[in-house]
Amino acid sequence: MTAKAGRSANGGVGVFRTAVVPAAGLGTRFLPVTKTVPKELLPVVDTPGIELVATEAADSGAERLVIVTSPGKDGVVAHFVEDLVLEGTLAARGKMEALEKVRRAPGLLDVSAVIQEEPLGLGHAVAQAEAVLDDDEDAIAVLLPDDLVLPSGVLDVMSRVRRKRGGSVLCAIDVPKEQVSAYGVFDVEVLPDAVNPNVLRVNGMVEKPALADAPSTYAAAGRYLLDRAIFDALRRIEPGAGGELQLTDAIALLIAEGHPVHVVVHRGSRHDLGNPGGYLRAAVDFALEREEYGPALREWLQHRLGPDWDPQLTTYD
Ligand code: UTP
Repeated sequence: MTAKAGRSANGGVGVFRTAVVPAAGLGTRFLPVTKTVPKELLPVVDTPGIELVATEAADSGAERLVIVTSPGKDGVVAHFVEDLVLEGTLAARGKMEALEKVRRAPGLLDVSAVIQEEPLGLGHAVAQAEAVLDDDEDAIAVLLPDDLVLPSGVLDVMSRVRRKRGGSVLCAIDVPKEQVSAYGVFDVEVLPDAVNPNVLRVNGMVEKPALADAPSTYAAAGRYLLDRAIFDALRRIEPGAGGELQLTDAIALLIAEGHPVHVVVHRGSRHDLGNPGGYLRAAVDFALEREEYGPALREWLQHRLGPDWDPQLTTYD
């Protein structure tokens, strides 16, 4: 069975049509704002994080985005619905740049929601997407909306690895040793026939290991290209840490059963939008790249961090 492939913006042919974005978590690290605002809608400068992730998925050949949401949080999907009244008003007022911005998200790909009734873990969230897949889809991409992996394009490399080696392909970043305990960490092996040294075989995965127990410094980075076999594995695992069904446990089960799992080590940068500190770094990083905000922000930051900064004497607009 071969999945009909999507065509990526980078010219490669993807091996998945559906990208799943789990967005049903509680967002406790971002309270109190997440009491009423889904963290996926918080703006990175002016664009919700979920639009950035949806753009990455579309650029890598996804035709459909399935957002896993919790009851009452399905407003995230509204960001991808055309607003003809707003568009008409902007057009009538000649605000063409703003019009282009509001049209961007609805034009990316088909977006739908599935509901995760209770936050029973990332594995449980991914499992909810199976019901909406077509019979001929034999792989899905999963993108965690908290993670920005830059520059985008790692899903294209992951697709190429699946085409060559089959199975499931994950994304890793090489983190400093003292940070390993914050991540899922891969136990990897160099492939004897690897052309790309950043493609490694995965023999196992440890969730948040102590430094001494970490099998490597390669940490999971929120992008997964999963064979459809993952759904069967998710049905067979028991709840793990915190009573949650862990995606990591289902992947570990596949590895134990001989399913090929590889990792692509991403050598670019990454932002974690899931906590205020990481989110602020992402916002500053993106704003510095923007023509309309970058130069003034840079100047202000230099002043703010410089020896002459005096909060009593400074006014700035
Ligand atoms: P996180 O644990 O990082 O997100 O899950 P969270 O639970 O929203 O955040 P905190 O820890 O309470 O601050 C990683 C991703 O998995 C989704 C989250 O929405 C996030 O995108 N997730 C997690 C679900 O969709 N359902 C779950 O039951 C758990």
